[in-house]
Amino acid sequence: MRVLVINGPNLNLLGQREPSVYGSTSLDHLVSMLKDHGKDLGIQVDHVQSNSEGDIIDALHNARGRYDGAILNAGAYTHYSYAIRDAVAAVKLPVIEVHISNVYAREEFRSRSVIAPVCIGQISGLGVEGYLLALDYFGKYFKQVGQ
Ligand code: DQA
Repeated sequence: MRVLVINGPNLNLLGQREPSVYGSTSLDHLVSMLKDHGKDLGIQVDHVQSNSEGDIIDALHNARGRYDGAILNAGAYTHYSYAIRDAVAAVKLPVIEVHISNVYAREEFRSRSVIAPVCIGQISGLGVEGYLLALDYFGKYFKQVGQ
């Protein structure tokens, strides 16, 4: 089983960016935790980060047929990118939306995700742990759907 983790804008600065909101774990450390956790679950984890909407859409398109699922933190695009939403819907890949912060406890504009309705679920507010929990879920999900 293969899962692609896609991180959107500003998440390259994880660990340095607003640590009181997003914590002190760097993106590199998060990715290595995800890869290690994936090994325990028998899931190969690949990662892509981009600050550009088009790159995120391309990553979703390229994941078709190559991955069994994706974990997506689209950053601020979450709140307004109909193009990323359409890409998730188009690729018919199970996608879990993850947010490090609790987007429902922050500014009003963050409480709306235009992408979540086309995802299988969403995890918000559990810090970087949310990515690991999404991977755990995929471990169970792949067994359920008999892949
Ligand atoms: C975020 C929440 C978004 O509102 C914000 O723009 C981000 C990060 C999160 O992981 O909590 O860049 O997706």
